[in-house]
Amino acid sequence: MTNENFIKLSRIYEQSEKMRISLQGKKLDKMKSQALENPEQFWAEQAKSLSWFKHWDKVLDSSHPPFYKWFVGGVLNASVNCLDRHIDSDFKNKVAIIWEGENKESRSFTYSQLYGSVNKLANALKNLGVTKGDRVTIYLPMVPELPIAMLACARIGAVHTVVFSGFSGQALSDRVNDSNSKVVITADGGFRRGKLIELKKVVDDAIPFSPSVEHVVVLKRASNNIKMSPKCVWWHDIIEDALPYCAPENVESTHPLYILYTSGTTGKPKGVVHSTGGYLTYLYATAKWVFDFTTKDIFFCTADIGWVTGHSYIVYAPLMHGATQIMYEGAPDYPRPDRYWDIVEKHGATILYTTPTALRMYLKFGDSIPNSFELSSLRLLGTVGEPINPEVWMWYFKTIGKENCPIVDTWWQTETGGVMISSCSGIEMVPMKPGSGTFSLPGIDAVVVDENGKPTAADKKGYLAIRKPWPGMLMTLWKDDEKYQDTYWRKFVNNVYFTGDYALCDTDGYLWLLGRSDDVLKIAGHRLGTAELESAFVSHPAIAEAAVTSRPDEKKGESIIAFLVLRTEFVSESGQQLRNELVSHIKETVGSIATPGEIYFVGKLPKTRSGKIMRRLLKSISSGSSTIGDVSTLEDARSIEEVRQVYDDLHRAVG
Ligand code: PRX
Repeated sequence: MTNENFIKLSRIYEQSEKMRISLQGKKLDKMKSQALENPEQFWAEQAKSLSWFKHWDKVLDSSHPPFYKWFVGGVLNASVNCLDRHIDSDFKNKVAIIWEGENKESRSFTYSQLYGSVNKLANALKNLGVTKGDRVTIYLPMVPELPIAMLACARIGAVHTVVFSGFSGQALSDRVNDSNSKVVITADGGFRRGKLIELKKVVDDAIPFSPSVEHVVVLKRASNNIKMSPKCVWWHDIIEDALPYCAPENVESTHPLYILYTSGTTGKPKGVVHSTGGYLTYLYATAKWVFDFTTKDIFFCTADIGWVTGHSYIVYAPLMHGATQIMYEGAPDYPRPDRYWDIVEKHGATILYTTPTALRMYLKFGDSIPNSFELSSLRLLGTVGEPINPEVWMWYFKTIGKENCPIVDTWWQTETGGVMISSCSGIEMVPMKPGSGTFSLPGIDAVVVDENGKPTAADKKGYLAIRKPWPGMLMTLWKDDEKYQDTYWRKFVNNVYFTGDYALCDTDGYLWLLGRSDDVLKIAGHRLGTAELESAFVSHPAIAEAAVTSRPDEKKGESIIAFLVLRTEFVSESGQQLRNELVSHIKETVGSIATPGEIYFVGKLPKTRSGKIMRRLLKSISSGSSTIGDVSTLEDARSIEEVRQVYDDLHRAVG
């Protein structure tokens, strides 16, 4: 179903006494107008919720837009905000992280235990020569040592750059090299669907091409056989002699807390840089507004920490709030399609924050599985990462939430740091519309605009843009200020942030997010760039040219379709065997999340004179459109006849 269709299908969910929904949204409106009238005062108020060694001199320095600086002169430390502030309170022995293994093994860490582990590792990293500002790549499976490693870096002012453990060698070494990491923290192996993932082996293959790496710290997780080279040290060895307390580094508010690589429209992943003070302020405030965190909450965010949702809503926001966090190691359907429900029941989760992809999978298995679990501990449901269709929304609301739990459909991005559009259960719920994110959060000036940056009329599709800076925003792209400006700030005039998403605002002012307008794909909620995938295909000796697009997919939201031009000497081999080989090649170079759904060998790709692939055309072919559409509007296109020929060729290939 198209996004437009599901908007028609949707309806305002009836007010329910139990959910205390207010039609007016008065409290929310008041907060929003205060924030827009005096943003600096508003954000300064929010920043006061953090622990600062020194308060800021200036809330916002906008002297060099779009290089906005928040809380300039302020000094703090992220690990102090997540740990030390609780250690000195009643929370000392409160459980911070409940970890659930794929094999149902469980471990838990109190705030005090977490504090102890973070301090030791921080000292161990210092002993390895890591100092403030150094980059540390973390390539670990979903085990508690992953947040421990992140917080240990933050404690000593090192900049962590977590690489999703599902990524393969090439993706890892690109990120290690771009960030010039001094240390890589990994594990011997991890588990996924009961299978051993040999992470250390991937690191071994990647590191010879990474001269900046001085040490590889290895966590013993799977006890598989590995090779320890002279650069390698065991995690358990380096913490043995490390002192139990590490004084937190005083870092400026604008000191980078982390770099997280994400896909964009070029072949090279972008290193999104987040600050310390602005990012944490934004996360603290928005987590309260959206999830209404209380210290009693047991929060279950099902994301992997390799992506931004895990950074913000497994590590930093819940820990700053002193919540108890559930962290799950594995797949939602392994060994059976009931793992999330089992975990909710076992640990009494109060908030579940997950993805439409996972929900679509569970829905397929029917109601009896979730109905066989006790889910009454839940008070709030959340969704993130891709548009949710109203049928899935209704199923989530009725079958999982038993019509007692509001749903927060949270729109945001790696670049935004935290949630930007959502209902705010911690301020006041407005009537929900299945499939709509509702409104932007206080302080977020979101608008839907046309190609020229002018606000669109109600119900008219346009681009989502943000007109004011916000504290959680990225500071820049690592080592690429120019690309930062180009990608986000030059589409429209006057320093308006371009999100890359299509959206519309309906007549009630509700925002509907309608997917990416650029060359970014969302496969099972994971962000992948078409250009990145194309260069991975072309790195195979048989491939001369590649064009990647997607088609809507019931399970994964979108599925990858590749049109490939073979090198002449391989044309005779265009069979299933080569297809299989290419699938393995993509899994090895990018990771299994990038497994193509369909591969077509074609004679030519539709391109403009300047060599740009005509993506709109590919999209219309992959989604089964039988008409070529209006090619005359394709800027700088070759002659329509030539495009038509390529189109027919592609169409024949798809069949
Ligand atoms: O297209 C939007 C989609 O995910 C993109 C951001 O991806 P990433 O940086 O990987 O961060 C994902 C987790 C925050 C956005 O540009 N997206 C995210 N949340 C939603 C969404 N699309 C529709 N509805 C959402 N709730």
